[in-house]
Amino acid sequence: MGDVVSYSREGEIAYITVNNPPVNALSLPVRQGLQQSFQKFAADAEAKAAILICDGRTFIAGADITEFGKPPEDPWLPKVIAEMEACEKITIAAIHGTALGGGLETAMGCHYRCAVPAAKVGLPEVTLGLLPGATGTQRLPRLIGPKAALDAMISGKPLPAGKAHQAGAVDEIVEGDLKAGATAYAKRLLSEGAKPRRISEMDVDKSEIDQHFFAEYRNGMARATRGFFAPEQILKCVEASVTVPYADAVKRENELFMECMMSTHSAAQRHLFFAERACTKVPDVPSNTPMRDIKKVAVLGGGTMGGGIAMNFANAGLQVVLKEINTEALERGLGIIRKNYENTVAKGRMTPEQLDECMALITGAIEYDGISDCDLIVEAVFENMALKKEIFAELDKVAKKGAILASNTSTLDIDEIAAVTSRPQDVIGWHFFAPANVMTLLELVRGKETAKDVIATSMAMAKTIRKTAVLVGVCFGFVGNRMFFPYISEAQQMILEGVPAERIDQVAFDWGMAMGPNGVSDLSGLDVLDKVNSEWKDRPEDPALWIVVRKLVEIGRFGQKTGKGIYNYAGRSPVPDPEVTAIAKAEAERLGVAQLENVSDEEIIERLMFSMINEGALILEEGIASRPSDIDVVFVHGYGMPRYRGGPMHYGDAVGLDKVVAAMEKYRKRYGDTYWKPAPLLAELAKSGKTFDQWAASNG
Ligand code: 3HC
Ligand code: NAI
Repeated sequence: MGDVVSYSREGEIAYITVNNPPVNALSLPVRQGLQQSFQKFAADAEAKAAILICDGRTFIAGADITEFGKPPEDPWLPKVIAEMEACEKITIAAIHGTALGGGLETAMGCHYRCAVPAAKVGLPEVTLGLLPGATGTQRLPRLIGPKAALDAMISGKPLPAGKAHQAGAVDEIVEGDLKAGATAYAKRLLSEGAKPRRISEMDVDKSEIDQHFFAEYRNGMARATRGFFAPEQILKCVEASVTVPYADAVKRENELFMECMMSTHSAAQRHLFFAERACTKVPDVPSNTPMRDIKKVAVLGGGTMGGGIAMNFANAGLQVVLKEINTEALERGLGIIRKNYENTVAKGRMTPEQLDECMALITGAIEYDGISDCDLIVEAVFENMALKKEIFAELDKVAKKGAILASNTSTLDIDEIAAVTSRPQDVIGWHFFAPANVMTLLELVRGKETAKDVIATSMAMAKTIRKTAVLVGVCFGFVGNRMFFPYISEAQQMILEGVPAERIDQVAFDWGMAMGPNGVSDLSGLDVLDKVNSEWKDRPEDPALWIVVRKLVEIGRFGQKTGKGIYNYAGRSPVPDPEVTAIAKAEAERLGVAQLENVSDEEIIERLMFSMINEGALILEEGIASRPSDIDVVFVHGYGMPRYRGGPMHYGDAVGLDKVVAAMEKYRKRYGDTYWKPAPLLAELAKSGKTFDQWAASNG
């Protein structure tokens, strides 16, 4: 038997202990170990009950995700679980940490489950584009009812032990030491004459199911699960649980699981699982890098971004000083923050007491001396280099020694800003995304001299305020906006070529984007885009570039904020406007831009996505991003790209980089080299039949 699972006995109680750090995932040796240990228990005449318990920080946190996509190796998890359940003597799972996915399925192969109060149990497979494929879709409905089971599996959200106990997924809550509590529970069950209680032999409670149940559930989940493959598969499994016998439903579960496993969606979602963990690791900043102590934070500027940024820190229980230029601006900023919190209270996501606690953490200042004791200062004033330099020069004078000086600039050169201080090692970009209290992405921008402990502390702080941080280098627009510009450019160019804006947006939406590029432009503000256009470093020499934006801004159509932009707005709903079409047509005539007819959906997606992928390849060559997967994290967390596409670079890999380059060559013939010449890295990978992922692996 491997070391990862051990068998021991104290009196009549056997202990089957899993020890497979870091999260006790069900890799092949664990499955083998479980199988052998339960066989040993069955054969051990002295043992009357077995407790399945785990060493380390958690109970089994699921199947080993690194094994997915490879040929399955025997013993398969459903087989191990079925054998465990068949045992003639009682078995008890003792849960701490998280029993997730295959972990909960294994626990449901036991006859009873106990857990410490802080434990969580759940079936989060949907987040990996999968379904609980080791009989979870059949067992959970039998334990807690089909509706509650569907809610858990479709959301993927784990239940705290207390709720799981109420629902029936956990039988006993154990206070204090888990092993001692589980042993006492096992002894009690034995003394009560408890028998093996096999979930597979239970009936599903159909009292809540009528003929409309599944159709209504399907409709209810449609919006939240739009485009995803796995949720419907899960629904089909639960349908099977109430319509066919257990053994047949398990067969159906297996077929549907394999379909999920082979899907491009699951490959993309699994890629993101690892990408989101990889991006927290900076190659030359080891995990034992000392941190700076951050207790008090200042935010400069209480406008659109500053208010949301301040909320992030207050939500994490940190003291924040919000600095504005005068009392009026400060009151306005604080007022907006309060209003935001009040909206959250109104939605029931926060209590009035929590609102008061957060507001009490945020104080105001209009002078710099109000922030001199802060450990971290995030500047979020207007996007203007001269102003930012003035502010950083001032911060250099007033900020305490060792304070981290961060800028929320979306395009400006961090090195140029750092150069006005005597401490460029303390300066870093903290690029939040709007709305800053909602969007999960944080681009951390590393300057030439940014110190490693500033990076390590920023990464840790990002986690504290629940952001997904990606470290990027200095360039115009950093990673996200720099790649977003070609995407917007293509959308603009297509409008100029006579493709209706709403058609472009619909195709992008159907592909999975939260919003099409033209809707996003209107939301961000066409005036903001136009400003970027005029300040764009290395802007291609092209009079047609973003000309529609320029013309719309000239007549005051700034987007949603003025009720008119690329679209007209009745509330937030975009309505196409013939005036915009006419403007685009006139500009196309003036600039001699050929009108396209019968543009296919495929072309729209290729032009939007491949232009971005090419920019991503340039970014990798220049070392602005450390890994292709970091770029993917940026787009999924900051730009509304659906998780089932895995981000732009993974999408390129999934399509095939040779196909990406072939399509680019097609457009290069039509439009020339400026936008469509493949980046050297992309061309090279396409030629050698490799993916970005393989390139990253070979780069270490
Ligand atoms: N398989 C393989 N590796 C895993 C893993 C898994 N199921 N879960 C976590 N890991 C790895 C991570 O990649 C990470 O590795 P790294 O240190 O090299 O980056 C390490 O374990 C620690 O993970 P986290 O950084 O995420 O640690 P946290 O303490 O923040 O979170 C956790 C722990 C809540 C368990 C979180 O890791 C998690 O949610 N894991 C995935 C749970 C899951 O989705 N389980 C279902 C799997 S699918 C399944 O079971 C199919 C079945 O139905 C057949
Ligand atoms: P904003 O115009 O809404 O707010 C800027 C605020 O800064 C104003 O309230 C102003 O009074 C204040 N301010 C100006 N000088 C100041 C000073 N010396 N001290 C303190 N406060 C001062 O601007 P917004 O949109 O919040 O942008 C701020 C920064 O965030 C810019 O660098 C911008 O590029 C960046 N950013 C903006 C995003 C957005 O979507 N709005 C997204 C990501 C970054």
